[in-house]
Amino acid sequence: MHVLITGAAGMLGRKLTRRLVDVGTLRGSPIDRIDLIDIVETPIENSTCFTHVTDICGPGVATELLRPVPDVIFHLAGVVSGEAEADFDKGMAVNVDGTRALFDALRFAEGSPRVVFTSSIAVFGAPFPDPIPDDFHLTPLTSYGMEKMVAEALLADYTRRGVFDGVGIRLPTISVRPGTPNAAASGFFSGIIREPLVGAQAVLPVSRNVRHSHASPRSAVGYMVHAAELDSAALGSRRNLTMPGVSVTVGEQIDALARVAGPDAASLIVEAPDPVIADIVGGWPERFDTQRALDLGFTPDESYDAIIRAYLEDDVAPS
Ligand SMILES: NC(=O)c1ccc[n+]([C@@H]2O[C@H](COP(=O)([O-])OP(=O)(O)OC[C@H]3O[C@@H](n4cnc5c(N)ncnc54)[C@H](O)[C@@H]3O)[C@@H](O)[C@H]2O)c1
Repeated sequence: MHVLITGAAGMLGRKLTRRLVDVGTLRGSPIDRIDLIDIVETPIENSTCFTHVTDICGPGVATELLRPVPDVIFHLAGVVSGEAEADFDKGMAVNVDGTRALFDALRFAEGSPRVVFTSSIAVFGAPFPDPIPDDFHLTPLTSYGMEKMVAEALLADYTRRGVFDGVGIRLPTISVRPGTPNAAASGFFSGIIREPLVGAQAVLPVSRNVRHSHASPRSAVGYMVHAAELDSAALGSRRNLTMPGVSVTVGEQIDALARVAGPDAASLIVEAPDPVIADIVGGWPERFDTQRALDLGFTPDESYDAIIRAYLEDDVAPS
């Protein structure tokens, strides 16, 4: 089993690589090679892993990477929401042109691999029904969402044409995101859990009534692996689908923190309303109907408590 991961040095790429190395098999076969593609070095030492520091948008790069064509490709490389909005050219270059370069290289290569693409719930735009069904029309309200929508359409059509066998998984917001705080408007959803867990204060810029849908990085990796292993016949022609999340209010997130880490941790959250962030977040979806993904066997986190516990196990005190 030969696997290729683009965006391998990113938060989810590193966790996916770790999972594949630890499990050692995919689609019932032992993994003998994992090619890790990113513009920065992917920090992993393992005899099956081969790192390539390269830009998937570069001329001829995708063609070169596909010699030979892997059995499974996880396409995670991307410019995420805040940056894609601030730098339109960069978002288009990586999220659209880079994706097309990879998909087109497959058109002219030998083999038809499973391609798992990490899309986003940003493909949906308000006004929303509650919950948002899997087949709700795609009317993104950000450049990032538009770019993911274009990539979804490419994936579906290249799959229909038999170029490859694609599955696009729309991830909800990933929390608890490890590492240092970032400038994303959604950053506080992770920050209000991550910072108090190490005794630091965290700022809450929105009301406790704000509702949002979350998946742990652990579940997101599980979704990617499951997408790689899914039977094509079960998927039919609708190749992009919304992944399950845990829909909770910010108040329920804080209650979960108090249950898992104690009331002292929860008391480190400082309310500092920010109308700009509140306005952005107010336009985001709250809840999804993900029955299709559940029927196909994608397994979500049990609760927000479980999301916090997964973070503690995987990122605070890794075994
Ligand atoms: N984290 C989330 O909440 C979330 C939610 C929905 C979808 N996603 C999607 O999941 C994927 C992974 O997300 P993440 O949180 O790990 O993001 P990340 O920013 O941590 O990782 C993305 C990686 O892509 C790499 N990259 C960017 N341009 C590249 C290029 N031209 N060539 C090669 N590599 C390039 C970056 O260097 C980075 O390491 C992305 O496609 C993202 O859009 C993430």
